Amino acid sequence: MKKYYIVLALLMLGIFISNCNPSKKAAATENLSFSADLSSVITTHCSPCHIPDKGGNKLALDNYANVKTHIDDIIHRIELDPGVRGFMPFKKKERLSDETINLFKKWRDGGMAE
Ligand code: HEC
Repeated sequence: MKKYYIVLALLMLGIFISNCNPSKKAAATENLSFSADLSSVITTHCSPCHIPDKGGNKLALDNYANVKTHIDDIIHRIELDPGVRGFMPFKKKERLSDETINLFKKWRDGGMAE
């Protein structure tokens, strides 16, 4: 009976270890940059309103300086519930995907490289 418990314990340890996915940890600490990771996402989701080249007349988010200055407001707004005043992207019925929202957070937390 004792042996059975040891085998069971080892089995559970094995499952536990195999669930510790090292690639997840690596992703959490990788440093994103504005030009490589964020700028295309912003162009996709915040056009045309925030992209002067596309005729936008709201706060320009096509440049590093503005996005860096306003990053907390940006994250706050994209995390609001759709329909709530201040939600971005403006008038959209759905939030950006969690993955996209996390990209903004990771960039902020990783030091906001240009
Ligand atoms: C359809 C047009 C439209 C789109 C798309 C849009 N916005 Fe906006 N945005 C607005 C308008 C209109 C305002 C001003 C009203 C307000 O402050 O809520 C605004 C205001 C803002 C502000 C505050 C600006 C300031 O002067 O302080 C931020 C930050 C912002 N938007 C971020 C975003 C982000 C990030 C996206 C893309 C994920 C986005 N918006 C997409 C129309 C848009």
